[in-house]
Amino acid sequence: MKGLILSGGKGTRLYPITYNRAKQLVPVANKPVLIRVIEAIKEAGINEIGIVIGDTGDEIRHAVGAGRRWGVDVTYIEQDAPLGLAHAVKISQDFLGDDRFVMFLGDNVIEGGISQLISEFAESEWNSQIVLTEVDEPQHYGVAELGDDRQIVRLVEKPRHPVSNLALVGIYMFDHHVFEAVHAIQPSWRGELEITDAIQWLVDNDYRVHPYVHRGWWIDTGKPIDMLDANNRVLAELTHKVEGYVDRSSRIDHLVTVEAGAEVINSVIRGPAIIGEDSRIVNSYVGPFTSIYHDTLIEDSEIEHSIVMDHSKIIGVPHRIEDSIIGRAVEVGSSPIKPKAYKMTLGDHSKIGVL
Ligand code: G1P
Repeated sequence: MKGLILSGGKGTRLYPITYNRAKQLVPVANKPVLIRVIEAIKEAGINEIGIVIGDTGDEIRHAVGAGRRWGVDVTYIEQDAPLGLAHAVKISQDFLGDDRFVMFLGDNVIEGGISQLISEFAESEWNSQIVLTEVDEPQHYGVAELGDDRQIVRLVEKPRHPVSNLALVGIYMFDHHVFEAVHAIQPSWRGELEITDAIQWLVDNDYRVHPYVHRGWWIDTGKPIDMLDANNRVLAELTHKVEGYVDRSSRIDHLVTVEAGAEVINSVIRGPAIIGEDSRIVNSYVGPFTSIYHDTLIEDSEIEHSIVMDHSKIIGVPHRIEDSIIGRAVEVGSSPIKPKAYKMTLGDHSKIGVL
């Protein structure tokens, strides 16, 4: 079996975080979402992975390379324009050949344990397996209608009036018959070749598509709030450990990870939280659901329920920072110089909330 990861898209809803970086590389609990996807595929025993890339391809190539660090062999497949998930399958035909494969959206984060499902498909007779889960707002997703026998009746992409609350999760498994489907379908109203339509085509042509209903959590990390939510979920699942240095005047609990080379000085950290490699937390408070990436400094400040990326500095901020996503090499600090005012250098699409 092979793996196919879709890692294109501009990530406009995550601006400015994704202004100059691929959304799949935003760290969740200090690991880029894309790397979590690679690890999940590897865990299912798959070593050959194709990654479909678009405008942000260079950055993805730089971060993942040939995949050796994760014990996989990566092939890059370039998609000239975001013409849909079924289009991505179409252009990957040479790479996939006649093998069964799992396709994973590179910005989806799902509760652990999905690898078993992929291995089961490898051994099965099914032509396809889809993953469904109950959601509150099905109109934003591909939606499945199941019959009394729990088999698929119909799949509709972003229906105005959803017939069920079962959404298609961004994990799909296929055999080579999917290529007939992606060649047969037409672009949707949004100009894309929809994978949902390709799966409907398989159902209509009597191929066996097995619907698996996932009961755990699943997050499509499109918006900042989804990123924070995914961060909460993954931090809560992690097995925490301390590899860095925590001085005697600091207090941390058992749900805190301190990565190698990190230092915690005269501070309080309440988990679940993670402090990245070579970061320093000095005279500060880091509260639950916070991920501090590598080479970052938090000094004389308080932060909770936030993601801080690498090489940033938060120094002497008088109020607690919460619900925030702070990019790379950002500086947040207090200014002793008069007049007493907010002094900001903010890039395009930045968002700040002041007291
Ligand atoms: C895509 C699929 C949709 C699926 C969703 C999961 O939507 O078309 O069927 O439910 O991913 O994340 P898109 O992200 O392209 O809007």
